[in-house]
Amino acid sequence: MADLRFDGRVVIVTGAGAGLGRAYALVFGERGASVVVNDLGGGRHGEGKSSKAADAVVEEIRSKGGKAVANYDSVVDGDKIVQTALDTFGRIDVIVNNAGILRDKSFARISNDDWDLIQDVHLKGTFKTTQAAWPHFRKQNYGRVIVTASNSGLYGNFGQANYSAAKMGVVGLNNTIAIEGRKNNIHCNVIVPTAASRLTEDILPPDVFAQLKPELIAPVVVWLCHESCGETGSIIEAAAGWAGKCHLVRSTGSLLRARIDEIVTPEAVRDSWDKVTDMSSAVRMESIGEASGALITAIEETREKSQSSADGKRVDMRP
Ligand code: NAI
Repeated sequence: MADLRFDGRVVIVTGAGAGLGRAYALVFGERGASVVVNDLGGGRHGEGKSSKAADAVVEEIRSKGGKAVANYDSVVDGDKIVQTALDTFGRIDVIVNNAGILRDKSFARISNDDWDLIQDVHLKGTFKTTQAAWPHFRKQNYGRVIVTASNSGLYGNFGQANYSAAKMGVVGLNNTIAIEGRKNNIHCNVIVPTAASRLTEDILPPDVFAQLKPELIAPVVVWLCHESCGETGSIIEAAAGWAGKCHLVRSTGSLLRARIDEIVTPEAVRDSWDKVTDMSSAVRMESIGEASGALITAIEETREKSQSSADGKRVDMRP
């Protein structure tokens, strides 16, 4: 099969001056894309700014014969980043929302500022940048979007409540824009990376850190952004030369009342709890329609049980 190329495509990578974003930008550049290398160039806690980080990566791409332009705006002004793509290259095809910072504190110690800044950069930045490109994607019936989540969001991590919330926020955003974009061939996916970078240098053990090169994740992101990739609405974890898909599952659950005209009591919930939380036959809900459909089934089942009970049959409410 042919190599995956991006000739004629315009790609924005936010936070591309370092770490994962830099690795993504370099692969896109090598594969023919025109790359907008966005980076605010500040510290890892969101302080300061500089043009150096983005300039260095633009230089790196150009020195290998690629096409790139720098943009130094914060992702909170994502419309300006999209404007740079349009002004320089005349179109926009792919957005990799990657820029990120940390303000780690235990939950009790998170200030309003620590909260707001993290939500702004990760969640609002993703919204602003992607929304600015959206009309262009729709008009050309083509677009690819990556949002960046984290294991801290999916599974929780001590000291990262603000960051976890923002990272799950982008998962929710992705779920819905994947649905809204489908009819215009706009695909959106979540990448959940684990990589050696300045964000993780004092978190990951040194021997593990050495095996977590951003270059081992970049090809996963690049594939998800290719026109031939049909994946959309998915959460893809990637690290150390491995990738896997991740999704939420729901237990079969339990009815909490015997008859349709009964109320649900806390005691009935307690008595059914083992069944409510039994994940042994948990399944993925493919859509909100399927999830709601299960609720209609629960109503029907309760009605049937009411009928059986009215007919004098024994109703078994054991969990
Ligand atoms: P990094 O610190 O090496 O790179 C992030 C880049 O984003 C920096 O160059 C920074 O200047 C830029 N940036 C920060 N705020 C910005 C803003 N407002 N506007 C534009 N650029 C801004 O970090 P790394 O590790 O490469 O992280 C990339 C993304 O991956 C982040 O969203 C991070 O939360 C996420 N992530 C990283 C993990 C890891 O193991 N490294 C784990 C899970 C998620």
